[in-house]
Parts: sequence; C-alpha cells; structure tokens
Amino acid sequence: MNLLIIGAPGTGKGTMSALIKEEFPIVHISTGDMLREAIANETNIGKIANHYISNGQLVPDDVIHGIIVERLGKDDIKNGFLFDGYPRTQNQAIDLDEILKSLNINLDKVLYLDIDDEVLKTRITGRRLCSKCNEIYHVVSKPSKVEGVCDICGGELIQRADDTLESLVNRLEAYHGMTQPVIEYYEKQGLVTRINADQAPAKVFADIKDALKD
Ligand code: AP5
Ligand code: MG
Repeated sequence: MNLLIIGAPGTGKGTMSALIKEEFPIVHISTGDMLREAIANETNIGKIANHYISNGQLVPDDVIHGIIVERLGKDDIKNGFLFDGYPRTQNQAIDLDEILKSLNINLDKVLYLDIDDEVLKTRITGRRLCSKCNEIYHVVSKPSKVEGVCDICGGELIQRADDTLESLVNRLEAYHGMTQPVIEYYEKQGLVTRINADQAPAKVFADIKDALKD
C-alpha cells in the first residue's frame, strides 16, 4: 500500500500514522520529522528549514524535492509507504507523480483528515513530544503517566518550537492556501477518502482501517 495522509496542523496525522504503521507493514515518512531532525543535526537543509518552520511557513519546494528523492531511493519503501505532511503544494504533488512514475510505483489512497480550525488550537498548544523517540502526547487527551517523561522510552517531553498560537495562524494560512488545492488535485484522480478527524483517536483509526479495507 502506498498512502498519503493529509490534514491541517494538529489534525492527528502523526498520531494516526503511528497506529497505521503498527497495523500494516509500511514505512512512515514524515517530512516534518525529517526536517526537525535536520535542524537538530544542524545540517545545511536544517539551517534553511529552521527559518521557515519557526515562522510557520512552508519550506521551499526544491528543498523538499531533494529529501523526497533521497528517501524514495531507499529499499525499505518496497513494501509500501505512508507520506505524512507531504505533498503540501500542488507543485510538490506534480513532482511526486513524476518521481513515482519514474520508479513505476502507484499511489493507492489519500487519507484526508478533516476538522474545523477551532479544534486545532487546543490540540497544538497541548501537544507534547518525546525528545528521544518522537512519541506524541497531549496534556489533556493523552497525558504521559509521569508529567514530562515519555511512557515508552523515559525521554524528556518537549513542546515543538512551532506549537504557538502565533505560528499556528501562519501554518493554517499555508494549509488553506497551498495544501487544500492538493486535496482537490487528488480528488480529481479519485484517490481521496475523507475521514472525520474530530472524534476520539480510536474512532478516527477505525474509520481509517475501514477506508483501507477497500
Ligand atoms: P509537520 O511536522 O508536518 O506539522 P503539521 O502539518 O503542522 O502537523 P502537526 O505535526 O503539527 O500535526 P499532526 O497532524 O501530525 O497532529 P498530531 O498527530 O501530532 O510540519 C512542520 C513544518 O515543517 C511545516 O509547518 C513546514 O514549515 C515544514 N514542512 C513539513 N513538510 C513540508 C512540506 N512537504 N513542504 C514544505 N514544508 C514542510 O496531533 C496533534 C495533537 O493532537 C497531539 O497532542 C495529539 O495527541 C492530539 N490528538 C491527535 N488526534 C487526536 C484526537 N482524535 N482527539 C484528541 N486529540 C488528538
Ligand atoms: Mg505531525
């Protein structure tokens, strides 16, 4: 299965991707995670991306192109992949089509997590992330057993630098302006399944599994 998961910031793409990859033998590829790792490692890409991410703006398409081509060159994508947070612009979607065509790979489905913007404020400001294993928490809906400590690896829980209300305004603007046309692009190809993301995580995941049964 070759899948995309698309949705506004904080809709639950990372949370659902973790559940999907437990159930299905596919690799989870999050451009956001890759860029944050590049920032932490102070690579050239990280230095470019830092400026955009901290302002809630999209990283330029040519930078994203480079990391996608490199990632799709790895062997582990052969059993299938799940792109989380990519493509985010129509140019990226056209570019992905071309890259996949050259690799003789088809996209099977686009999972579109749909939600009202209002819900996202509490999701974004309450999110905590394990600094070691990237496990996602929420201070209200998914607290860790011990405050500030990851249940899985004992790592320190942190807040993402872009998880502020100020940055969220820009992230939502980028989402509505640049990423929603991507959903329309895939709708025209008949690939999109809309999932109501404003439900308990277990229910959202059950709806995703139903969509993947087809
Ligand atoms: P990225 O890391 O992709 O961030 P995002 O799209 O803003 O999405 P988030 O990771 O914030 O949210 P999510 O949907 O994964 O939600 P989560 O599961 O964590 O990108 C970051 C930045 O990198 C971008 O702004 C851009 O600058 C750059 N970038 C990345 N890719 C790019 C690209 N292709 N092109 C250009 N630039 C790019 O959940 C959020 C919270 O809600 C958590 O606390 C969770 O516990 C909670 N939660 C989840 N589901 C539920 C539920 N059903 N009910 C209650 N709470 C829930
Ligand atoms: Mg995410």
